Amino acid sequence: MLNSRIRRKDLLNKVVEADKAAELIKPNMVIATSGFTPAGYPKAVPLALAKRVEETGEEMKLTLITGASVGDELDGALSRVGAIAKRYPYQTNKDLRKGINNGSIRYQDMHLSHVPQMLNYGFFGKVDVAIVEAIAITEEGGIVPSTSVGISPQAVKNADMVIVEVNTNQPLALEGVHDIYMTENPPHRDPIPLKHPGDRIGKPYIECDPAKIAAIVHSDISDKVRPLGAIDDNSKKISQHIISFLENEVECGRLPENLLPLQSGVGSVANAVLGGLVDSKFENLTCYTEVIQDSMFDLIDAGKVTVASGTSFTPSEAGLEKLLGNIEHYSKHCVLRPMEISNNPSIARQLGVIAMNTAIEVDIYGHVNSTNVMGSKMMNGLGGSGDFTRNAYISIYTTVSTAKGGLVSSIVPMVSHVDHTEHDVQVVVTEQGIADLRGLNPRERARAIIENCAHPDYKEMLTEYLTRAEAEVGGHQPHIIGEALSWHERFMKTGSMKVAK
Ligand code: COA
Repeated sequence: MLNSRIRRKDLLNKVVEADKAAELIKPNMVIATSGFTPAGYPKAVPLALAKRVEETGEEMKLTLITGASVGDELDGALSRVGAIAKRYPYQTNKDLRKGINNGSIRYQDMHLSHVPQMLNYGFFGKVDVAIVEAIAITEEGGIVPSTSVGISPQAVKNADMVIVEVNTNQPLALEGVHDIYMTENPPHRDPIPLKHPGDRIGKPYIECDPAKIAAIVHSDISDKVRPLGAIDDNSKKISQHIISFLENEVECGRLPENLLPLQSGVGSVANAVLGGLVDSKFENLTCYTEVIQDSMFDLIDAGKVTVASGTSFTPSEAGLEKLLGNIEHYSKHCVLRPMEISNNPSIARQLGVIAMNTAIEVDIYGHVNSTNVMGSKMMNGLGGSGDFTRNAYISIYTTVSTAKGGLVSSIVPMVSHVDHTEHDVQVVVTEQGIADLRGLNPRERARAIIENCAHPDYKEMLTEYLTRAEAEVGGHQPHIIGEALSWHERFMKTGSMKVAK
């Protein structure tokens, strides 16, 4: 089974056990891996490495660079044995998050589109080892990725040596779904010749000098996909608000009947928003996005989406079953690209993407925090949200209007951390309603957001703050600076943003 997937036969002598391959990884190395969300990341070698570190107490101090978040076998296992010193560019793992927030792991949260270029320029240090999960190695020695692409092409290109995990649990039928195209560094960078989300502009495998392949490991560990929350009432309402907004845009002649390519963020709300389109009147939709989640398969089945371009398949357990059960069918409608291309700002602008991402909190002027809870605690990272938000034709942010059982308002006077600014955020949606901020000045934006998006429990407090800020301070974007973050302070001291009566 393994041998038939290694089609370049002179590489068969590189096959070793995972612990043997892990021996190639030495303290202080820079490791770049495949993986984007818990999809297509290496599993056997990181687990063998974590076991060795646990048994020997070796101080590894690795720099780990991936496409985005990865599964527990990589981020979790290595964090728990203290093997990670530096981590780029995104994560969702609770043990890693703990290390980031207690300062023991140095984490830089980055726009994902920046990572491939920074790898090429060596900003993270020289890449010592690339570890890449594959479904096969071609006759030419090309590496066929599995359920994601992420930074794999740049990891392979820049690494001194490459370890390939050939995962026989990943279906060979994925072959052909990938489209690997890489850019040169400026001034030799040509325009990317992609005009439609479904265009194929590259090769179905990652080119790799076979001499660089230091080890090939057999793996049969499946992607540890995450469950998606049930589509609740709030998510349904948010989805309905967005669909009505898009219908109106079509009526006003600002969008074609089949819209423009959709980008949708990660998580349950994002999945629900896309899911809502199944029952909408829209047809022949296309998606130019990062992650292909469960609802995309439903949209393909319903004949609503003709093509979805992304850099990873990120289904839940049920979604994975659906994908694997009919992989040939879904492969016809999906393209997986390197994240340099899936998240490319120039393509997002050129295609006129409709970007829909999720905020932790939004302030009255439209600044968005999607990363640091209460200004300090890293949740995940901004991922690709900024790549799309700034460059989309329409940038939409969704959030439920309250968090922590209603004790926190997600609409606040001033966000406690800024990821996306008022200049990039055009539409804010909560279950309460939608605020279209295009063409509005800050004072108008504030009224639109408070009136349409804030929870009734907080509307009066927000209006009172805005009115006083306008009267007492004035200016273009009125703020009572000493008070602007008092809502967060109050929550941290009393456990509620509400003022005690
Ligand atoms: N204040 C304080 N905490 C808040 C909050 C607020 N306004 N809103 C949410 N939270 C907390 C929740 O209580 C929860 O905490 P817990 O895990 O301790 O229970 C946590 O934040 C996550 O909230 P949840 O409602 O489960 O969020 P989600 O699954 O919808 O994810 C983001 C929301 C913002 C964390 C997530 O979308 C994200 O990481 N976005 C950035 C990356 C991104 O956009 N990627 C896609 C680009 S293509």
